[in-house]
Amino acid sequence: MNLINKISMLLLGVVLLASCNHNFDYIPEHQTPRWEYAPNMYHSQAYEPVTQVVDTNEVLSYNTSPGNKGMNLREPVPGTIKRGFTPYKIPKDSLAYASATLVSPFTVNDELIAQGEVLYKRYCMHCHGAEGKGDGPVSTKFNGIANLAGGQIKNVSEGHIFHVISKGKGMMLSHASQVTQEERWKIAHYVKEKLQKAAQ
Ligand code: HEC
Repeated sequence: MNLINKISMLLLGVVLLASCNHNFDYIPEHQTPRWEYAPNMYHSQAYEPVTQVVDTNEVLSYNTSPGNKGMNLREPVPGTIKRGFTPYKIPKDSLAYASATLVSPFTVNDELIAQGEVLYKRYCMHCHGAEGKGDGPVSTKFNGIANLAGGQIKNVSEGHIFHVISKGKGMMLSHASQVTQEERWKIAHYVKEKLQKAAQ
């Protein structure tokens, strides 16, 4: 191998090594190779819905849809309902109607109650207390948390509890975003079957 060849090999090696680092973000500008080997391998030409790459220079158009800057996963059209989901549409002020007409899709059994207990402890107990008496830890800061195990609420239907969890009532806000419809029924059954019966 003559000298010219050796030098060319060396130069080729240097160029190849220098192009290995494609991450420009964390390297000072004067140190970046500014040459990327096969950029399409790192930055797909297709829009990537969950990509974290943001092309702040806007030199390359990859990863960001032109009409939708910064967001490739388009938001669904307003009113879109996910498959298999039935929205709960009874309005907040129709508690009496909900309470009289709603029927639980579940048959009460021990497993259902056990599931309801887990959910109650997760979503309700800090306010309403382990026995439902309105004496959870939050009650030391807030007055007026309802006693679910006594008074008027003792006679309400599961549908009533379902509606209150879904839409809220008075000072209690809706828990619809945290608790699915199935979970609301399980909690309602737990409240009626365990907390209210235990308090009798
Ligand atoms: C942040 C505290 C808080 C949480 C969490 C909470 N509640 Fe309440 N809840 C309240 C308050 C306060 C009231 C009294 C509302 C009023 O009448 O102003 C209430 C009232 C109720 C009532 C009585 C409604 C009526 O008819 O008067 C029911 C039933 C109820 N909650 C069920 C639940 C269930 C089930 C959960 C769990 C999914 C839950 N709550 C979570 C604070 C809370």
